[in-house]
Amino acid sequence: MTDEQLIALLKELSLEEKIGQLLQLAAPFFAGTGTEGQITGPMASMGITEDIIKNTGSILGLSGAKETIGAQQAHLKKNRLGIPLLVMADIIHGYKTIFPVPLAIGCSWDLEAAEKSAEIAAAEASAAGVHVSFSPMVDLVRDPRWGRVMETTGEDPYLNAEFAKAFVRGLQGKDLKNDLTRLAACVKHFAAYGAGEGGRDYNTVDMSERQLREYFLPAYKAALEEGAELVMTAFNTVDGIPAAGNKRLMRDLLRKEWGFDGVVISDWGAVKELIPHGVAADEEEAARKAIMAGVDIEMMTTCYENHLKQLVERGEVDETLIDEAVLRILRLKQKLGLFENPYRGADVDRERENVLSAEHRRAARELAVKSSVLLKNEAVLPLKPEQKIALIGPFAQNGDILGPWSWMGSKVDAVQLYDGLKAKVDASRIIVAQGCDIESVTDDQLDEAVRAAREADVIVLALGESSDMSGEAGSRANLRLPQAQLELAAQLKCLGKPMVAVLFNGRPLDLHGVYDLVDAVLEAWYPGTEGGLAIADLLYGDRNPSGRLTMSFPFAVGQVPVYYNNFNTGRPQGAPEAQVRYVSQYLDIPNEPLYSFGYGLSYTTFEYSGESISSDIMTLTQPLTVTVKVANTGKTAGEEVVQLYVRDLAGEVVRPLKELKGFRKILLQPGESREVAFMLTEELLRYHHSDLAFASDDGEFAVFVGPNSRDVLPELSFKLNK
Ligand code: BGC
Repeated sequence: MTDEQLIALLKELSLEEKIGQLLQLAAPFFAGTGTEGQITGPMASMGITEDIIKNTGSILGLSGAKETIGAQQAHLKKNRLGIPLLVMADIIHGYKTIFPVPLAIGCSWDLEAAEKSAEIAAAEASAAGVHVSFSPMVDLVRDPRWGRVMETTGEDPYLNAEFAKAFVRGLQGKDLKNDLTRLAACVKHFAAYGAGEGGRDYNTVDMSERQLREYFLPAYKAALEEGAELVMTAFNTVDGIPAAGNKRLMRDLLRKEWGFDGVVISDWGAVKELIPHGVAADEEEAARKAIMAGVDIEMMTTCYENHLKQLVERGEVDETLIDEAVLRILRLKQKLGLFENPYRGADVDRERENVLSAEHRRAARELAVKSSVLLKNEAVLPLKPEQKIALIGPFAQNGDILGPWSWMGSKVDAVQLYDGLKAKVDASRIIVAQGCDIESVTDDQLDEAVRAAREADVIVLALGESSDMSGEAGSRANLRLPQAQLELAAQLKCLGKPMVAVLFNGRPLDLHGVYDLVDAVLEAWYPGTEGGLAIADLLYGDRNPSGRLTMSFPFAVGQVPVYYNNFNTGRPQGAPEAQVRYVSQYLDIPNEPLYSFGYGLSYTTFEYSGESISSDIMTLTQPLTVTVKVANTGKTAGEEVVQLYVRDLAGEVVRPLKELKGFRKILLQPGESREVAFMLTEELLRYHHSDLAFASDDGEFAVFVGPNSRDVLPELSFKLNK
């Protein structure tokens, strides 16, 4: 269909039919989905009639080629003008082949692998009939109490923006219309959902506009610049107004300033939530505020459906607002080729061949290897095949390693740690015991664990959070592992044997009670379908850990938020004139996190030397090159993430102590060394001034190169002279 034809189609639609396009309902409302009739709970009281369903524009949470084809066929028969449904779903870190959770993917610092994971997720989901994925989720996070930190790539705006682009490329490819193996990307949650007060989900967000623009917005913007077709609004308030009713956010910033002309969708129920938020008296006011603010599609509530018509008839909402929203939705359908081929990529055969294919599983294993982070290792890893190991803990034999948002992934398909280890060494070398449940322990369990451990040379503890302890509505105020698991670790410690902890969890934890008892800690996150195999590769040294943290691990929950790109304050610790007491510090714990941004160990050692900068003056036309030589001085091949940070020493507003401005992941053989060069341009030095102008300042800058944000080489410096 041409754009003229789309406009003509829009003109043919009645007001009811147009409003129908703005409604998104879950699969059970639709015939042919195989889920129809399961309308329970709040869904049952939505007052949805057959008449409404036939005009509905999109469906969420549906998948399976047979089911999506069935739903589309049934819908096309009922919809007067034959407008196909858009099928949307949360394809967050895989469809059936589940990759590590996004926070783990971030820790790989591997943009190509991240792109590949999204491409594979799209290939599987598109074969199952999905058109739009509610991803990437790119909210910047600084508070590990928030359960949804596992859905994002972490605390740094630069890194998050790079990953946002990689995910969009992987999902959408280059030609959405003709490449039926891709999906349209919906970047979320706009905006600043990651900054909820106290880390409590859905909670208030209030920050200066400068802070918002400087740290929280760049990743959404990057995703849109890469071509993401949709934006999802956040649940939280931004400066007193819930995102779903926030005109400044959507009309002024997103549409006018950034020029976004794709579809904006509310999050689940977020339009109606304007009522409990306290900015709408009733559904009618919620509908008016959301449409005026720029929400095109209302997900899973019916404020638009029940009230927009009257609002238009009374002249309170201009019909052109509705027309514009509908046209954007029709254009998206057109971009996906749905008018020509409403079933698009849905294909029972392709689905069967694609889903969980050997190639996809290989990629999932590879990414799980790359995203695990070795946090501690005192000469115990890698394990030796001849060692007898006691594998103990609630994750020893547990398929709950896919992580939240793997709704189509099945635990049954996940390779558990015990099975992964058995694929590597003879089963007689592994004694397994559960030790405790996730949150409880019995004396019998402890006795069994101690018996198993007594027989072994090394204890491998498989600990963590069950997946429902993080993810949406998974906020926690205590960031330690559950007491039962700490008790298990403490008991086993008494045996005096080498201990390794492998952690399965969705957030940075306060690792006290574990890291201080064991000789090695491998943070495996939720590693996905091939998790057990990937962890076995790492534990036995067939692969070398190369993940680096993209979110700080707090020393204690009382430090939160704790992040590397913080300010110096007027009274920094350790300054020459610092007093003993009157400095910015805690009396009882260090200021620094336990493990900082960028941190992670390897089985080999890397040495940095010969850092240099091409000039001590940068101008607009003369960028600088920062070079450093990195050598693998150990006995194993390994990947290192070489990181570049900059500090603007005197800004117009306070500037962070360090900001990531570049990174490279390089593979070095034993004895090999390589020169790594980073280009530093004036553009990378720009920031938001007090008047919100995005510009750089002349003056002095410090440059740091190193293996993480803390252990950098002595600083280099230059002057910007525009
Ligand atoms: C989540 C979104 C998700 C949506 C649809 C909401 O509860 O916040 O991230 O895309 O549900 O499943």
